[in-house]
Amino acid sequence: MDLPIIITNFKTYMEATGGKALDLAKAHAKVAIELKVSLGIAVQPTDLVMLAAGVSLPVFAQHMDAIEPGAHTGGILPEAIKNAGAYGVIINHSEKRVPFTDIEKNIKRAKDLKLFTIVCCADDVEAAQIVKFEPDMIAVEPPELIGGDISISTANPDLIRKSVAVVGKGRLIVGAGVKTADDIKIALELGASGILLASGVVKAKEPEKVLRELCGALK
Ligand code: G3P
Repeated sequence: MDLPIIITNFKTYMEATGGKALDLAKAHAKVAIELKVSLGIAVQPTDLVMLAAGVSLPVFAQHMDAIEPGAHTGGILPEAIKNAGAYGVIINHSEKRVPFTDIEKNIKRAKDLKLFTIVCCADDVEAAQIVKFEPDMIAVEPPELIGGDISISTANPDLIRKSVAVVGKGRLIVGAGVKTADDIKIALELGASGILLASGVVKAKEPEKVLRELCGALK
């Protein structure tokens, strides 16, 4: 996975579910090739097989459960994520928190399966605790800014600086409220290696056009 990267989290938006998820994933793949930039997507478990087979991009699962194969009805088995073709997995997203004590277990399960791990957290204090578990990357997203129009870069640039200091260069992505190329530029200038975003692209009237504009910041 090349850095800097923009990873679009498809969440459970209808615009990014089923056939529409495939269209959106293909738009990402097209933009990544044409602009020679690094893009990834994080998708629902029900779309994982289709999207991992349908595009050559790093495709992440939005969540997994640190369960073993067996009797866990409704669980998302790490092995199933791997078999579905995922490149990696997001752990502890703000909208899908896992108990703190399970984070290390999740990372270990994912790593044993060679799944790239991105662990989300709210701030640099949590990041400092999680970095000890050695995930591949940490994503810092202030929960109160998620889904809004004010980005982490404008509302709290200091949080990006502090997070880079605890996580180290090359291992931090940031997100929440990211809507413009300037938001991305600021985050990268402050030392982040990528962006995790959702509504700015998924809910846009013309997602591909917006994605192209945002990618300008990766150059
Ligand atoms: O995972 C990305 C996310 O939580 C940020 O969402 O809509 O603020 O870009 P959004």
